Amino acid sequence: MTNKIRFALIGTGMMGREHIRNLNLMPEAQIVALVDPVADSISQTQAIIPEKVAHFADVPSLLNGQAFDAVILSSPNFTHHDVLGPLMGTKTHILCEKPLATTLADAKALAEAAKTHKGVFWVGMEYRYMPPAAAFIEDIRSGKIGRLQMLAIREHRFPFLVKVGDWNRFSVNTGGTMVEKCCHFFDLMRLIVGAEPVRVFCSGAMDVNHQDERYGGAKPDIIDNSYTVVDFANGVRAMLDLCMFADGSDNQEEIAATGDKAKLEVFIPSGDIVYSPRVGFRNPTKTERRHVTVDETALNAGSHHGATFYQQRKFLDAIQGLGPIEVTADDGLRAVAMGLAAEISAREHRVVAMSELGF
Ligand SMILES: NC(=O)c1ccc[n+]([C@@H]2O[C@H](COP(=O)([O-])OP(=O)(O)OC[C@H]3O[C@@H](n4cnc5c(N)ncnc54)[C@H](O)[C@@H]3O)[C@@H](O)[C@H]2O)c1
Repeated sequence: MTNKIRFALIGTGMMGREHIRNLNLMPEAQIVALVDPVADSISQTQAIIPEKVAHFADVPSLLNGQAFDAVILSSPNFTHHDVLGPLMGTKTHILCEKPLATTLADAKALAEAAKTHKGVFWVGMEYRYMPPAAAFIEDIRSGKIGRLQMLAIREHRFPFLVKVGDWNRFSVNTGGTMVEKCCHFFDLMRLIVGAEPVRVFCSGAMDVNHQDERYGGAKPDIIDNSYTVVDFANGVRAMLDLCMFADGSDNQEEIAATGDKAKLEVFIPSGDIVYSPRVGFRNPTKTERRHVTVDETALNAGSHHGATFYQQRKFLDAIQGLGPIEVTADDGLRAVAMGLAAEISAREHRVVAMSELGF
């Protein structure tokens, strides 16, 4: 028991509980505290922890009341910067849910503070860890498609779910859809392309969802469909096709990477990977299909196709010195910056150079 990594969970809503269900599966993790100002979130979360644990309304009370080694932060996006404040520079290991922050200033401040943080600082870009996505990335890295030239990511899904206090209905709380949701895809683009973005063009708006919703009289202002084109410094071009009123889609994510030798596609959740080498005009196709299966235990512990499990596993390895920090605060910052560039682009109907944001 003494060697266990003691976790405090900050923000115990939907994602906090997904983290708990996964921590319950990690032999070296022990949950010792919950932090949330909303009593109902605390009691729903306590119900899925085998032992009774301490709970607090905020981080200063946690620091006064309970010893811990690591935190997972899954409070609303706009709270990340301030909630992390008292923990930065300490030895506490931190997994901060995406997006790192909602504004460029807050994201830059956290990335700067992370440089001198004494524990592990990891940003929750977990789409990297969905097993079919991870296998797809591995294939591209191994040279299977030759030199990557084009990367197309499509997410067609259901509308944003209801959150505690409806915080996700307004861009001021989320950073805007292109930050809140799409930071995952901008992170994947950077990871797969292996270069930094130069310019971003996004056409998007809230055209279908949330039209009749009002919160304190205000109508939501979050993009529900968009096309985004990103030019990378190494000449690769990427695009993101987002639709949040496509509930009936078979696959939620479809990614296609095309190089000078072949095209590779992955479909999630089906787990199919399709490899199509170039054969020349009118020659018979040589398409190969394979299927990546996700471990049932990892799959059932969350709603993200096993991603939370595999990301936590690597976070725990990094804490124990058994592996590197794979998603740094700088990665988190750059994904936020791409999302903010897309938000500006959609609002102002123009191409946004990343240099305008200081990159
Ligand atoms: N990795 C992913 O794919 C993924 C998926 C869903 C959510 N998330 C992220 O997880 C975070 C939480 O999202 P959610 O869906 O669980 O929202 P939620 O509304 O279900 O839960 C948020 C919880 O945080 C609590 N909270 C509010 N202010 C707080 C504060 N100052 N300190 C501590 N707790 C506070 C709320 O009371 C609530 O219980 C967000 O940053 C979100 O972007 C990530």
